[in-house]
Amino acid sequence: MLSTKSYMFQFLMQVTISNDGATIMRLLEVVHPAAKTLVDIAASQDDEIGDGTTTVVITAGELLKASKQFVEDGVHPQVIIAGLRYATTKAVTRLNELAIGVDGDMVARRTLLEKCAKTSLNSKLISQHQDFFGPMVVDAIESLDESLNLNMVGIKKVPGGSVTESFLVQGVAFKRTFSYAGFEQQPKALTQPKILLLNLELELKSERANAEIRIEDPTKYQSIVDAEWEIIYEKLAGCVASGANIILSKLPIGDLATQYFADRGLFCAGRVGAADMARVASATGAKMQTTVHGLEKDSSVLGTCAVFEERQVGAERYNLFTGCPVARTATMVLRGGAREFIDETERSLHDSLMIVKNCVKSSRVVAGGGAIEMELSRFLREEALKITGKQQLIVSAFAKALEVTPRQLADNAGFDATEIVNLLRQRHAKEDGLWYGVDIENQSICDTYAKGVWEPVTSKINSLSSACEAACLILSVDETIRNPQSQQAQGGPGGPGGMGGMGGGRPLSQAMGGGGMRSMMGRAGGRGIRAYRGKGGK
Ligand SMILES: Nc1ncnc2c1ncn2[C@@H]1O[C@H](COP(=O)(O)OP(=O)(O)OP(=O)(O)O)[C@@H](O)[C@H]1O
Ligand SMILES: [Mg+2]
Repeated sequence: MLSTKSYMFQFLMQVTISNDGATIMRLLEVVHPAAKTLVDIAASQDDEIGDGTTTVVITAGELLKASKQFVEDGVHPQVIIAGLRYATTKAVTRLNELAIGVDGDMVARRTLLEKCAKTSLNSKLISQHQDFFGPMVVDAIESLDESLNLNMVGIKKVPGGSVTESFLVQGVAFKRTFSYAGFEQQPKALTQPKILLLNLELELKSERANAEIRIEDPTKYQSIVDAEWEIIYEKLAGCVASGANIILSKLPIGDLATQYFADRGLFCAGRVGAADMARVASATGAKMQTTVHGLEKDSSVLGTCAVFEERQVGAERYNLFTGCPVARTATMVLRGGAREFIDETERSLHDSLMIVKNCVKSSRVVAGGGAIEMELSRFLREEALKITGKQQLIVSAFAKALEVTPRQLADNAGFDATEIVNLLRQRHAKEDGLWYGVDIENQSICDTYAKGVWEPVTSKINSLSSACEAACLILSVDETIRNPQSQQAQGGPGGPGGMGGMGGGRPLSQAMGGGGMRSMMGRAGGRGIRAYRGKGGK
């Protein structure tokens, strides 16, 4: 989390090793309502931006910690909320002012995209391969059309081999799941093929277990068998008559069909996954068919691509369709040792793909490594001096809370966080200190912009706004009513108290500074979590 730490989870006998904030939050069995809000903002940051999920949760936690002091001093939550919102608006305006754009220049744009991709991979298990994956992620996004639909980037995992054997296909790729007799005689490469997509079974059905046929005359049995053969041969002839030389089906294509197509120089694959079929359809322009009758009259249902080939990847066979004319698409084939490692690689690449997609849209970046947070913190301290009353204190507290990112980065890298943050404060007070952040390689501070630690400004704006909204939402809760009986029924490791594990096995309330919402929301007993007495309660 936040750079160098990873977490290992075991849930339902399944081990997950991850550093991705959204994944960790999703796997936690959180029951506390305030913590659920934090899980939600991590998920929304993941959906919207893809990266920065840890940052958003940590910032929201820090804002709540800062607010707790004011609640205890008797400041009304609405006053605190107004202060937090004011500070966020100011910070977002400043972020937009500071963001550096590279519109127009293609080389600079490519560099920007690669740097952002690498920064998001920096904190992941595959960080030492960021130079390998960074350009690959950018290539994948650049293979797409203007809609930048990430569903058109497929990620396939093939265990085995080394990570650097992973590769990008600028088209659709999927694994052949079943091989039948005759398959080896089918063509392994075709140029400008005609592709027919079916949602139709091309297999003899006679052995179906639940079929019951009653006949009075045993000689009629042969006629039933013949009829079945006739039906399947009719379907196969329909496929060939369509003019297609690649036939893909969502449903099984049995050995009879495989041999039939092989004899006629056609390629076929059955049991292709729904997502892969959809990508082939939108990339090649083929239209899914549920019948083969009349296909010879309508060739517009067939798709095409520049090259089709079948390639061996590790122990698997892959079907690759490249140079697709209709929609542009890409597939990343990932290699690597353990399953957990490849799973985490996929999650990390997803973050990186999302970040590059956002960069393509806005092309404006700020420096990471805590630099932008320190700058916003300095700016808000100055802004606080321009206002009076309680708001001044709240904006100052917000400014201090923003220092949590560099502090956590320094802490996770094993440095003295207080010393590093002090150095950063000093530097940011000087004119040339704007982009100074944590130097995780030299246990010091450095200009992270010059070092290429770049993050899209949209990611920072989103994480700041979401963190503020989550804190405001929790602050605006006057009272939480809990029904002990339904809590017991839902169980979970948090037990009847309902405090799921978070923060190193401690209940969430402790992880958030002790006492949870009850202590956070007030001393007078008027607010806080109360057991619901009455219907369903005790
Ligand atoms: N080389 C680097 N030097 C200093 N800081 C870095 C470097 N690379 C990344 N960072 C910083 O690390 C932080 C990101 O850490 P991390 O990726 O673990 O969390 P996240 O992006 O908030 O959440 P997640 O990736 O889990 O969704 C950002 O503040 C980023 O600026
Ligand atoms: Mg990240």
